[in-house]
Amino acid sequence: MSDKDCISFLQWSLPKLHFHWPGFRKVRRQVCRRIQKRLNELGLSDHKEYQQYLMLHPDEWNILDSFCYISLSRFFRDKMVYEILNHKILPYLATTKGAQRNRIDAWSLGCCSGEEPYSLKILWELGIKDKSKSETELHIAATDINPRLIQRAQAGTYSAGSLKELPSDFLKYAFDPTGQSFYLKDQFKKNIQFLQQDIRKQFPEGSSDLILCRNLAFTYFDRELQNVILEKLIDRLHGSGFLIIGAHEKLPYTEPSLSNFESQSIIFRKKNKT
Ligand SMILES: C[S@@+](CC[C@H](N)C(=O)[O-])C[C@H]1O[C@@H](n2cnc3c(N)ncnc32)[C@H](O)[C@@H]1O
Repeated sequence: MSDKDCISFLQWSLPKLHFHWPGFRKVRRQVCRRIQKRLNELGLSDHKEYQQYLMLHPDEWNILDSFCYISLSRFFRDKMVYEILNHKILPYLATTKGAQRNRIDAWSLGCCSGEEPYSLKILWELGIKDKSKSETELHIAATDINPRLIQRAQAGTYSAGSLKELPSDFLKYAFDPTGQSFYLKDQFKKNIQFLQQDIRKQFPEGSSDLILCRNLAFTYFDRELQNVILEKLIDRLHGSGFLIIGAHEKLPYTEPSLSNFESQSIIFRKKNKT
C-alpha cells in the first residue's frame, strides 16, 4: 500500500473510530505498516478491498482500532514539565496533600512501557523525598490499553535510548546496567500499580492529586471523545489537583473549573469549589 493510499484510508477510517487524523499524520507509518501486515494476512490486495472487508466484518473495526495505539515514550520526556514538577508541583503536594493524608496520588494515563510513571517516581524518591526527608509516599496508578506494554513496564528494563534525557545522577542511582540494557531498581517500583485499561471505558479507582494525560487523548482522539475524557479527568481530580497534558497538545475547550498553572499552557490546576 502506498503512502498516498494509506493516508486516504486513514482519513476515511479514523473518524469512524473517533480518532483525529491530524494527530496521526507524523506517526502514520507505524499504523500503515500494521495495516499492510493485516492485508497480507487476509490476502487482500489494497486498501479499497480492506474497506469492503470492514463493511462486511464489523468485528474487524476492533482490530483496526488496535493498530492505532501509538507507543512512543521516553524518560523525562519534555524536561520542562519535570522541572516544574520538581521545583513547584511535587513540593507543593508534599506539604499540603502529603501533610493531610501522608500520601499523594498520581495517575499516568497511557503509560506506555512505564517511562512516564517511573520518571515521576524517580524524581519523587531522589529529588523530593530524599531532600525533604518527607514521610509522604507517592502512589501512582499507571494505565495503558496495551498488555504487552504493561508487561514491559513491570519488567522495568530499558535501552540507553529511552533514558537519554534522564539526568545522569538519576540514571546512576535508579538503574543497574545489565549488558546493553538498564534495569530499574526495585525500590523505584514500589507503590506503582500498572493496570491494563482503555481510557474510553475504564478508570482506576479513587481520585488523583496529579494526572499526566500526555500524548494520547488530546492528540489522537476526536473532539467529541476529547470532551468526554476531559470531563472524566476533571471529575477524578482532587480540588487544587494538577492536570498535565502533552507539550504540543491543547484542551478541547476552556474548562471553567481549571486554571493555567503559572501561565503554563499545558499545566492546569483544578479550582477549589467555594
Ligand atoms: C504516544 S504514547 C504516550 C506515552 C506517555 N504518556 C508519554 O507521553 O510519553 C500513547 C500511549 O497510550 C496508549 N493508549 C492508546 N490508546 C489508549 C486507550 N484507549 N486507553 C489507554 N491507553 C491507550 C498506547 O498504548 C501508548 O502506550
